[in-house]
Amino acid sequence: MASRRTTSLLLFLCLFSALLSTVTAQTFTACDPLKEDNCPINPALSTTYSLNLTKELNTVLWNTTNGALTYTDEGAEFTINRKLDSPTIQSKFYIFWGRLEVFMKAAPGKGVVSSIVLQSEDRDEIDWEWVGSETDFVQSNYFGKGNDSSFDRGGKHEMGNAMNDFHNYTLHWTKEKLEWWLDGKLLRTLTYDDAEGGKWYPQTPMNVRLGVWPGGDPDGRKGTIEWAGGEIDYDASPYTMVVKSLKVEDFSTAEAYKYGDKSGDWESIELIGANSTFIEEINKPPPKSLSQKWAELPNGAKIAVYASSAGVGLIALLALIFVCIKQRRVGRKEYSLEESKFITDQNNTMTMQSKWNSNNGGYQELRRI
Ligand SMILES: *[C@@H]1O[C@H](CO)[C@@H](O)[C@H](O)[C@H]1NC(C)=O
Ligand SMILES: *[C@@H]1O[C@H](CO)[C@@H](O)[C@H](O)[C@H]1NC(C)=O
Ligand SMILES: *[C@@H]1O[C@H](CO)[C@@H](O)[C@H](O)[C@H]1NC(C)=O
Ligand SMILES: *[C@@H]1O[C@H](CO)[C@@H](O)[C@H](O)[C@H]1NC(C)=O
Ligand SMILES: *[C@@H]1O[C@H](CO)[C@@H](O)[C@H](O)[C@H]1NC(C)=O
Repeated sequence: MASRRTTSLLLFLCLFSALLSTVTAQTFTACDPLKEDNCPINPALSTTYSLNLTKELNTVLWNTTNGALTYTDEGAEFTINRKLDSPTIQSKFYIFWGRLEVFMKAAPGKGVVSSIVLQSEDRDEIDWEWVGSETDFVQSNYFGKGNDSSFDRGGKHEMGNAMNDFHNYTLHWTKEKLEWWLDGKLLRTLTYDDAEGGKWYPQTPMNVRLGVWPGGDPDGRKGTIEWAGGEIDYDASPYTMVVKSLKVEDFSTAEAYKYGDKSGDWESIELIGANSTFIEEINKPPPKSLSQKWAELPNGAKIAVYASSAGVGLIALLALIFVCIKQRRVGRKEYSLEESKFITDQNNTMTMQSKWNSNNGGYQELRRI
């Protein structure tokens, strides 16, 4: 009996580690600071940043690395609609020790994996993960320097329904210890020494990644599919994870973090500059819509715009009349010439309108793309 239990535990751990290597494999970075000198520096957040996800993400701070999000009154929806959908966002900022608080509902469904990840360029990683069919569990995990060869890092924690209700998932990460908190309760602590004397402890600047992915895709690895609760049923989609809000705190202050050597040790990380370029962006008022801009225009300006469009309209009308009269007088040949002149006038009007749009609102829209 006891040995059967041991066998199934070992089996579980094997499957679990098989999946973990896939997760890690998915997240290879472009320049590995453990292998290369002069990888790009990591721009620092350098402050505390709270974010309400009922509104569109600021693209100066975030990159949507896969798929697209939908915004509702509840928050941002990350949805799997069809095969291999895996909407994912990634922060452009990094924190070097810090805190990440996320209010979210995980996605239901077997084969569906929701995740909150902190990850560095040399693949130190801190995870929260949910398997859609295990509604009452959340998993915790970590990696150091991309090493995924041991079986004992993952944790599985019983909780209230993770898919129906919003919960507060908070990571608190310092150089001494890493804590996973659920709704104000400490679930797990990993000390620096716990990770083989710090060797595999996550200790380099991290960015924030949120996403949902089909761990149970039928073409995936068997171990991964089993870990994800079985094959995903795409016909029963959509499967949606909802993130309501975020709060990210960077415990260091700098403009950027830089790997000083190839050790991946926290002591090797250099703090460059004093002021984060993100702070100004965070404190900016949200961009105004075109209608807000219009409403705020002084009346005189509005009248001028109306008058000029009316004026343009009148000129266009006169041109048309002129063209018609002239058309009667001259032959068909010349008519086509005048017609093209009319079209040119029309184009001028349109150019004016789009110029107005782009000077107001439109410019902001472009910047946010
Ligand atoms: C987020 O924004 C929505 C819509 O503007 C608002 O109703 C809600 O109260 C905000 N939530 C927080 C936590 O600020
Ligand atoms: C944003 O994500 C896209 C898609 O993965 C990638 O090609 C691009 O390099 C990323 N940009 C930044 C600034 O991370
Ligand atoms: C990864 O860590 C394990 C111990 O947890 C160790 O035995 C193994 O050698 C490490 N792998 C690498 C590539 O360093
Ligand atoms: C979320 O949990 C963390 C950790 O317990 C706590 O510090 C924080 O205040 C909580 N957030 C809210 C909004 O309750
Ligand atoms: C950083 O910001 C502070 C406060 O706004 C300012 O006094 C200081 O000059 C800035 N430093 C640099 C290097 O820009």
